[in-house]
Amino acid sequence: MLPDKETAEQMLVEAEKRNPGPWGDHSRTVAECAEKIAAQAGLDSGKAYIVGLLHDIGRREGVTNFRHIIDGYHYLNGQGYNEAAKICLTHSFCIPDIHMHIGTCDLTGEEYQETVRLLSECEYDDYDRLIQLCDSIALPQGPVDLATRMGDVKRRYGHYPEAKWQKNFELKEYFDRKTGNDVYKIVGAKLEGGDKPCQEQSL
Ligand SMILES: [Fe+2]
Repeated sequence: MLPDKETAEQMLVEAEKRNPGPWGDHSRTVAECAEKIAAQAGLDSGKAYIVGLLHDIGRREGVTNFRHIIDGYHYLNGQGYNEAAKICLTHSFCIPDIHMHIGTCDLTGEEYQETVRLLSECEYDDYDRLIQLCDSIALPQGPVDLATRMGDVKRRYGHYPEAKWQKNFELKEYFDRKTGNDVYKIVGAKLEGGDKPCQEQSL
């Protein structure tokens, strides 16, 4: 189950009041990119927009790191929006391994175990893959190429797992094929770091 578009937009506005920050506009970029790609990939563009808009909604609870994933999952499930809750969980894990999370782990031991279990039970579909990709090209001011966005994360957190870096380029190739187009063109991404899967390129 999903909220309608207006409800999702209101939820994001309310969440931004609780915890203002660039994450709100980042979420809007993800939603807009997901909607455009979905429309050309034979997916439900309305669903793509809504799950994109809500993927970081766990940030309503404050300035957190890993915790926003499980907070968003619980918040949306608590309202019955299980389809959007699943995306909160999967958006940071294009490889379904908890060690792929970047940054400090601010979960309790119990929450950590819960996340491991939920991830192991998850079967990814194209909406999970689509938001993973869009999250990796979305800056608050608009979409950019993967190397630029991931390079920005790498600079801020000090590292970016190589396997995750490569997987994001595979996701782009997957949606390039599915749309018969270039994802960067579909979303109007600003190409700063080029489009080659090379870590050094943007650093
Ligand atoms: Fe995000």
